[in-house]
Amino acid sequence: MHAGLSLVLVSVLCGQTLGFAWPFTAFAATFANQDTPESESDSDESGHRSVAIIGAGAGGSATAYYLQQFAAESGIDIDITVFEKESYIGGRTTTVNAYGNHLEPVELGGSIFVEANEILKNATAKFGLSTEGAITQEFEDIVGIWNGEKFVYTTKDSDSQWWDIAKLVWKYGFAPIKTQRLMQTVVGRFKQIYTAPFFPFRSLSERAQDLDLLSATSLTGEQFLEKNGISGGFTTDIIQASTRVNYGQNLGLIHGLETMVCMAIEGAMSVDGGNWQIFDSMVKHSNATLHLNSTVNSITKSKGRYRLNTTSIDASSEETQRSTAFDTIVLAAPYKYAKINVEEGLLKKIPDTVPYVSLHVTLFTSTHRFSRDFFNLGPNAEIPSTILTTLSPDEVLANPEKGVGKAGFFSISTLRTVINPETLKMESLYKIFSPEPVTPEFLAKLFGTEMPVDLSKVTADSGDAITWYYPHVWNSYPYEYPRVTFEETELAPGFYYTSGMDSFISTMETNALMGMNIARLVVDDYLPAEQAQDEPKLLEQKPLGSENGAEL
Ligand SMILES: Cc1cc2nc3c(=O)[nH]c(=O)nc-3n(C[C@H](O)[C@H](O)[C@H](O)COP(=O)(O)OP(=O)(O)OC[C@H]3O[C@@H](n4cnc5c(N)ncnc54)[C@H](O)[C@@H]3O)c2cc1C
Ligand SMILES: *[C@@H]1O[C@H](CO)[C@@H](O)[C@H](O)[C@H]1NC(C)=O
Ligand SMILES: *[C@@H]1O[C@H](CO)[C@@H](O)[C@H](O)[C@H]1NC(C)=O
Ligand SMILES: *[C@@H]1O[C@H](CO)[C@@H](O)[C@H](O)[C@H]1NC(C)=O
Ligand SMILES: *[C@@H]1O[C@H](CO)[C@@H](O)[C@H](O)[C@H]1NC(C)=O
Repeated sequence: MHAGLSLVLVSVLCGQTLGFAWPFTAFAATFANQDTPESESDSDESGHRSVAIIGAGAGGSATAYYLQQFAAESGIDIDITVFEKESYIGGRTTTVNAYGNHLEPVELGGSIFVEANEILKNATAKFGLSTEGAITQEFEDIVGIWNGEKFVYTTKDSDSQWWDIAKLVWKYGFAPIKTQRLMQTVVGRFKQIYTAPFFPFRSLSERAQDLDLLSATSLTGEQFLEKNGISGGFTTDIIQASTRVNYGQNLGLIHGLETMVCMAIEGAMSVDGGNWQIFDSMVKHSNATLHLNSTVNSITKSKGRYRLNTTSIDASSEETQRSTAFDTIVLAAPYKYAKINVEEGLLKKIPDTVPYVSLHVTLFTSTHRFSRDFFNLGPNAEIPSTILTTLSPDEVLANPEKGVGKAGFFSISTLRTVINPETLKMESLYKIFSPEPVTPEFLAKLFGTEMPVDLSKVTADSGDAITWYYPHVWNSYPYEYPRVTFEETELAPGFYYTSGMDSFISTMETNALMGMNIARLVVDDYLPAEQAQDEPKLLEQKPLGSENGAEL
């Protein structure tokens, strides 16, 4: 689960690498075991099983890590090869450096995880990564929720990581407490999936049903909350601000489970220097052969094995084509974005093409602060440093996917103070989430000052209002429409797929969980049937709300 409102609250606090050098870099990855073109993996001769993992994001990295672990525990030999088309490990979890200075990394994608995220939490401890930066707050953070006309809610308290419950209750009655309870029930349900008899699972759809989580995924957030007696201002002001900052979606679209994830923010944290280090360490500990800059182009099957054709590009732009056969493959990237030519008829079912949010993440630095005029504030009003957004009451959306409304952006956050390496002045590091590119005109209004016409040309010493500018567009996560079935984990025998998870809960933790699950299934496939941990007996679940419904 990741942080809701506090995604931004906490972003302010984290990623402060106070002068540490990079522990390691993604480029330090080894290129062991250079296959010659057309090489066969040696599994048949040596008795080793060979597994290829396509993609080194949270899902693929966790697959590699747990495969090594489960295989070792079971006493079987597995050769793991990871193909990653980018030059780095982490996928949608990666940092860029403010001013290009490696002492100022800032999260460009997945930023926050929480106490309940066991895999990430345990890995952080195991790999000795620090999340300390997330605990101390650098400056007073005031969060305002803006609907394009006015602030519907503003926090006052600067030292709490979460909203002031007392104040929320004062304003919204029992809705905040009911929401918290409902969230705890849902999270409690979900967390059973980590252990037997619910772990591992071959079908996410079935497991979601076993855990009675379909009652949350089958409804929109709005319907799910309403059914549990939660409605009114708290949902449109606070909960929707959270679904918008986390998923770029309103409560009328996003399903109830993902809505609850947005409210599960207890113990929010992030790794100092970048969350990608968790996944980098996972791959290193897996002892996998890693091929960065290596795109898998096609998958065919012959003699019971999968053949992957890949193209690698090295530092001197030299291209290498490889064709390698594996016993098992794990596709750890959304099917439609992997753009792999899969032999016709090979898959039982081709994953549905689900629409993904196209999210513009804009990072920049400036000495300026937000303009009071932009937010229609009086001369003495305090200006929030973090702006979340919601719809205004009269807004009717023609298309639920075009849900940004009058505000025009999902969030604007002041992340932290940084030092401009040229001027040595203190500046602020900002992050904007929006469905369209940020324009100089918009920034001129937001800051009430002139802006350079070409933001791509600004430099730290150019004297402009913006001193570093980094825009990026992600296919960040699916539009989380209500649904009751999810993509299968096994697309064909020995051909696994992690990204069905994205339509259920799209977070670093849950994609890593799917990796751990698939690692277990792969090892079980290789074990004699009686040793496999698969297909456990299930316990009876009470329907969601049956135990809590009355009191909620
Ligand atoms: C802006 C933003 C903010 C977010 N905030 C949070 C947050 O605060 N907390 C949180 O938990 N989650 C957050 N998320 C979601 C989270 O980042 C993702 O759910 C998670 O990182 C996805 O991991 P993955 O491994 O499933 O996919 P990915 O990270 O997308 O990994 C897939 C990998 O496969 C590679 N690949 C694709 N095709 C091929 C091919 N043909 N050959 C070789 N390699 C290929 C890709 O390059 C990529 O590295 C955020 C996402 C975004 C974009
Ligand atoms: C995380 O660590 C705790 C405590 O050691 C352990 O009980 C739990 O099983 C671990 N979870 C995972 C997913 O590794
Ligand atoms: C790691 O891989 C190397 C080479 O493939 C192998 O010799 C070594 O035994 C492996 N180590 C572990 C812990 O699996
Ligand atoms: C994969 O590569 C091999 C050898 O380079 C080639 O013969 C084969 O046609 C390729 N297959 C596909 C599907 O591209
Ligand atoms: C990957 O490509 C980038 C340039 O695109 C290069 O800088 C880097 O060294 C390459 N990495 C590897 C491991 O080949």
